[in-house]
Amino acid sequence: MAGTERLRWGVLSTARIGRKAVAPAIVRSSNGTLLAIASRDAERAGEMAAELRQELEPSVGTDLGSLRTCGSYQALIDDPEIDALYVPLPNAQHAEWTIRAAEAGKHVLCEKPLAMTASECRAMHDAASAHGVVLMEAFMYRFHPRIERLIAAVREGDLGQLRFVQASFTFTVADPANIRLNLELGGGALMDVGCYAVNAARTLMGVEPGEVQARARWSKSGVDEQLLGTLRFEGGGVAQIACSLAAARSEDLLVVGEKGVARLRHAFVPTGQTVALEFQRPPSPPEVIAFEPVDSYQRMVEHFGACALQGVAPRYDALEAAANLAAIEALYASARGGGVAVDVPPA
Ligand SMILES: NC(=O)c1ccc[n+]([C@@H]2O[C@H](COP(=O)([O-])OP(=O)(O)OC[C@H]3O[C@@H](n4cnc5c(N)ncnc54)[C@H](OP(=O)(O)O)[C@@H]3O)[C@@H](O)[C@H]2O)c1
Repeated sequence: MAGTERLRWGVLSTARIGRKAVAPAIVRSSNGTLLAIASRDAERAGEMAAELRQELEPSVGTDLGSLRTCGSYQALIDDPEIDALYVPLPNAQHAEWTIRAAEAGKHVLCEKPLAMTASECRAMHDAASAHGVVLMEAFMYRFHPRIERLIAAVREGDLGQLRFVQASFTFTVADPANIRLNLELGGGALMDVGCYAVNAARTLMGVEPGEVQARARWSKSGVDEQLLGTLRFEGGGVAQIACSLAAARSEDLLVVGEKGVARLRHAFVPTGQTVALEFQRPPSPPEVIAFEPVDSYQRMVEHFGACALQGVAPRYDALEAAANLAAIEALYASARGGGVAVDVPPA
């Protein structure tokens, strides 16, 4: 990679999140070039390339005329001119294709949740380490300045010892054919959006949960349509998470420490609006910090590029993702058992 100035990216599939957010972020990024798109169907890859040209060429001013398209994922993995792959496949396919890409010497930015289980995450981490490539989970929310500011405040002790975190991520999936409602493909509210709430709670607490409990409402297709969970952390902190694929949209984060409280609405997905992070730390007056819209996908892509091109250490590695999946697996075990307490094994 030495001497290469820009990371040459390929996108594995025509997934909506790639079309709408991450491929555009790669095109806009300061250190990446979008070189190719692969689909199981070459025509679909061509349609996505045409859509990106139409939407991005006028606004970004980048010539996407040479964007390549492939009719199979393996063809993209085998392309020697590709340095890095973005993998937005259904969750159940993340591990297989990430490992194939790593074995071919490609860096991988893989969508959240990184895999189905902690064990799969470890296998992905081992494959990336063995082949000397960067692997990161595409949790873009961690690259937004509002969350970076909140994490820094907690780390600096602004709120005192954390006692309680409440995190929700809910929205409605209307299409029964959506991958989120497909059990075989790794669907479910906890896998799709609850993973953010679990990740935020673990990150803010700074330690791992030891025990969890959850209750779920199951869809006809067998996925958790809604799940409410409690995570008990080393040191006495507690988190409550709520996630749903059948409720109005909410993305709220409440963080309560011994000395102060922080609140963040729109905690996860970037919005086109200013977002307020509120702190209450008596006797200081309440503080509200306004964050202008930022493309956290682009910030994530550029960080990943710096890791692959300059050897910067990834802020979050696949073992961190394994710990998230360990908590998720335990929450599912509890929900399937009707809410029994389940220990979280070390990841
Ligand atoms: N970070 C974020 O903000 C964010 C947001 C949304 C989703 N995601 C994550 O991104 C991933 C994709 O989500 P999405 O909503 O964008 O998915 P989607 O639009 O349903 O696309 C999934 C893609 O996977 C490919 N695929 C391969 N086998 C498939 C199968 N058996 N059934 C359906 N599709 C199959 C298809 O591409 P081809 O037909 O081209 O091969 C399809 O376009 C998930 O892991 C999700 O958790 C992340």
